[in-house]
Amino acid sequence: MNQFESPLKLTTVMGMELSLRLLVPEDVSQVMELERSAHSHPWRQSSFEDCLKGRQKCWLAEHNQKLVGYVVITHAGGDAELLNIAVSPKFQRKGIGSSLLQHAISCVAGHADMLFLEVRISNRKAIELYSKEGFFELGNRKNYYPTHNGHEDALLMANQL
Ligand SMILES: CC(C)(COP(=O)(O)OP(=O)(O)OC[C@H]1O[C@@H](n2cnc3c(N)ncnc32)[C@H](O)[C@@H]1OP(=O)(O)O)[C@@H](O)C(=O)NCCC(=O)NCCS
Repeated sequence: MNQFESPLKLTTVMGMELSLRLLVPEDVSQVMELERSAHSHPWRQSSFEDCLKGRQKCWLAEHNQKLVGYVVITHAGGDAELLNIAVSPKFQRKGIGSSLLQHAISCVAGHADMLFLEVRISNRKAIELYSKEGFFELGNRKNYYPTHNGHEDALLMANQL
């Protein structure tokens, strides 16, 4: 079994114990709750359900058996993509996002040369997080994301694995 598939990892971040494990069907409703609380334009439930059957993997971070965050990654043909990352608003700025991102990088490192992602140009805290973890800017996609009153650009970023 490789790291992309290994079932459980324990880590400590800012004195807080975190366990990282793969999504199972029973988690989906709780994940949707966190998704709606963290994102202005949340994913549909079916996007998380896709993580249960395909190449796409959703890793959950739990503290005291409570869901505090997740990251979704995929890889194909030598490239990998980070598709989603979120931390429960009450648990943000405690290092959980960094831990999830580092875990995502270590999971895909043997499978891909580059990890790509897209992020809303207005999402400064996510861009700060990605830059801190070694991502660099590749360019913009014009009007890529819907907003409540129009569209905004995506920033394309990559990490050399
Ligand atoms: C982006 C997100 C995942 C970060 O998670 P987090 O657990 O709060 O991040 P961390 O505590 O690990 O922070 C790591 C670094 O990210 C940056 N960062 C995180 N929150 C920040 C904030 N509010 N303002 C500025 N920088 C911030 C900082 O560089 C921080 O390092 P520091 O604390 O040493 O300064 C979280 O804010 C979130 O879930 N946001 C909503 C969902 C989202 O936007 N996802 C990204 C979609 S592309």
